[in-house]
Amino acid sequence: MDTNWTNIGSVDLYPQDLGSCVLVGDVQVAVFHLADEQRWYAVQNYNPQNERMVLSRGIVGDEKGTPIIICPLHKYRYSLKDGKCFTDEQYSLKVFEVREEAGELLVKAS
Ligand code: FES
Repeated sequence: MDTNWTNIGSVDLYPQDLGSCVLVGDVQVAVFHLADEQRWYAVQNYNPQNERMVLSRGIVGDEKGTPIIICPLHKYRYSLKDGKCFTDEQYSLKVFEVREEAGELLVKAS
């Protein structure tokens, strides 16, 4: 059994098309459930652009077919798929595996 997966609770705890922040070990993880795709995404909550823990409060969107998170402070846009920053390529986010199993959400962030 792979022990790097952490159970972060029932999927019912997570609103669609909004972010939620969970602490996995000492890592703040921003979790998103996109209704259109019915897919989960998880990235670091920390925005490297201004060193703020804010991405779970961001707005989800789309950049040429790629699901993105838009930071609530200065509107930097990051891919939820690979963490690439569309606004300034010097920045990127860590992306974590996340999956649903028997109504529970599991994330691999440690
Ligand atoms: S802190 Fe997120 S874009 Fe500036």
